[in-house]
Amino acid sequence: MTSSTDDFALLCRLVSDLCGMNLDESKQYFLESRLAELASNNDVESHIDLVRQAAYADSELRDSLIDAITVKETQFFRDGATFAAFQKYVVPELVDQKARCWHMRQLRIWSAACSTGQEPYSIAIALRETLPDPDAWSISIYATDISRSAIHQAQRGWYTAHEIARGLPQPIRDRYFVPSGDGWKVIDQLRQMITFVRSNLLDTFPVKGPFDVIFCRNVAIYFKPEQRRDLFLRLADAMPRHGYLIVGSTESLSDLGPRFKTRHAGAAIYQPNLGPAVRS
Ligand SMILES: C[S@@+](CC[C@H](N)C(=O)[O-])C[C@H]1O[C@@H](n2cnc3c(N)ncnc32)[C@H](O)[C@@H]1O
Repeated sequence: MTSSTDDFALLCRLVSDLCGMNLDESKQYFLESRLAELASNNDVESHIDLVRQAAYADSELRDSLIDAITVKETQFFRDGATFAAFQKYVVPELVDQKARCWHMRQLRIWSAACSTGQEPYSIAIALRETLPDPDAWSISIYATDISRSAIHQAQRGWYTAHEIARGLPQPIRDRYFVPSGDGWKVIDQLRQMITFVRSNLLDTFPVKGPFDVIFCRNVAIYFKPEQRRDLFLRLADAMPRHGYLIVGSTESLSDLGPRFKTRHAGAAIYQPNLGPAVRS
C-alpha cells in the first residue's frame, strides 16, 4: 500500500496533529512500513483511512498507531556527559539552594518523554547516589510519555539483560535491580520515587510545576519548529528561575531567544530567564 504524493502529505498532516511527529517525503518508507501491520489488521482501504479512523473515531486504534510510529530509542544514563554534569553541578547547586530553607528538602523533577523508563530510573539512581542523605529528601519524579506501551514497560520496571547492559554499570545494577525471570526488575525503593503518566506534550501538561529540573531529551527533534518552540517556552513557564532544563546532547535552545541561558554547554543544560516569553 503506497500513497501518492498528495495522499502522503495529508497523511503527514494527520500524524503531526496526532503526536507532533514532523515527517516529509524522505520518511515515506519509514511511516508506511510502520503502518503496514496495523493497516492489514484493521482491514482499511488506505493508510489515510487508517490514520483518519485513529484520529477521529477509534481511540484504541489511536493508541496502537502512536505505539507503532513513535521512536522509543533510549538507554540508562544516556549521554554520559549529561548525567555526569547533573551529578557534579546540578544536584549540588540544588542542595545549596534548598539548604537556605531548612524545610525545603524537596525536589520535583520531570522526565518529559520518558520512553520505556530508563531515563527516570537513571535520574532516581543519580539522586540516590549524589544527595548526601537521600532518605531525608522528599523526591517526586514525574515521568510522562505519549506511548501506551512505553509507559506500561516503564511502570513495570522490568528490563531484559540486554537493556540492562546498555548503560548500567554492574555495581549500580546490583544495588537497584534484582534478577527476575530472564531479566531484571527495579527495586521498590526506586520505583516508588516515580509517578508515571501517559500524556502528549502538545497538550496541557498533566502535572503542574514548578519543577526543579526538567529532562526533555530527544523528543522535540521530531516536532515542527513552531511546536518545538511552544513546548520549550511552556516548559520554561513550569520552572522557577533557578530550575534546570536538560535537553538532548545534539539539541540546542540557542535559537529560542533570550528565554534560556546556557549553563554547562557540553551537557546541554539550560536555565530559564525571567520575563515574559517572546512567542511568535
Ligand atoms: C527517542 S525517545 C527519547 C527517550 C528519552 N527522553 C531519552 O532521551 O532517552 C522519544 C520518546 O518521545 C515520545 N514522544 C513522541 N512524541 C511525543 C509527544 N507528542 N508527547 C509525549 N511523548 C512523545 C515517544 O513515545 C518516545 O518514547
